Amino acid sequence: MKLFVDTGNVKEIEALAAIGILDGVTTNPSLMAKESGDYRQILKQICQIVKGPVSGEVVATDAAGMIREGRDLASIDEHMVVKVPFTREGVKACKTLAGEGLRVNVTLIFSATQAWLAAKVGASYVSPFVGRLDDIGATGMNLIREIVDIFDNYEFGTEVLVASVRHPIHVIEAARMGADIVTCPPAVIEQCFKHPLTDIGLEKFLKDWEKAQAAKV
Ligand code: G3P
Repeated sequence: MKLFVDTGNVKEIEALAAIGILDGVTTNPSLMAKESGDYRQILKQICQIVKGPVSGEVVATDAAGMIREGRDLASIDEHMVVKVPFTREGVKACKTLAGEGLRVNVTLIFSATQAWLAAKVGASYVSPFVGRLDDIGATGMNLIREIVDIFDNYEFGTEVLVASVRHPIHVIEAARMGADIVTCPPAVIEQCFKHPLTDIGLEKFLKDWEKAQAAKV
């Protein structure tokens, strides 16, 4: 399963890329609004750091506007993926942009039928939001199981990109279900690294080693 980071923050992306664990980046208008500077330049910088798929989202709500913004986003760098919301207009824009050879990530997916329709028009990625479903008392991961099952039955070239991830259990379940990609906020990636027994174990190894060295002198 590929790991993307869900942020527009260059410093956070640099730190994760330097470890060697990052396959791509997803952004959205809320995330980009937190960053200062020109969004095109920020996206360009992110592409150069990651050298993998970087989703930049359109803000137009009509298909013509989404297509125009999508072409512009794609022109920033070869790694850019155009993110469009799942609406009738978004599906229409996806069909056109994918037909031009651009990669499209259809976002705000909350049902399996939405994922299926996006796949039909050539989306490269669908982004189902698991955390926001959990927030309203549904089980977000059930949606991932449904979409993975459906896509496994056909020859769609669409990857399932699990989004709105809130904790490592979402990550584990996504991997067990065979999702293609998980996009995590940096804090969740940090949680995936951490285990208190690793810290305690390392501390003990080093103390024992130091004790043995001191005994030798
Ligand atoms: O980038 C889309 C998605 O991951 C947003 O997550 O936490 O705002 O529901 P969240």
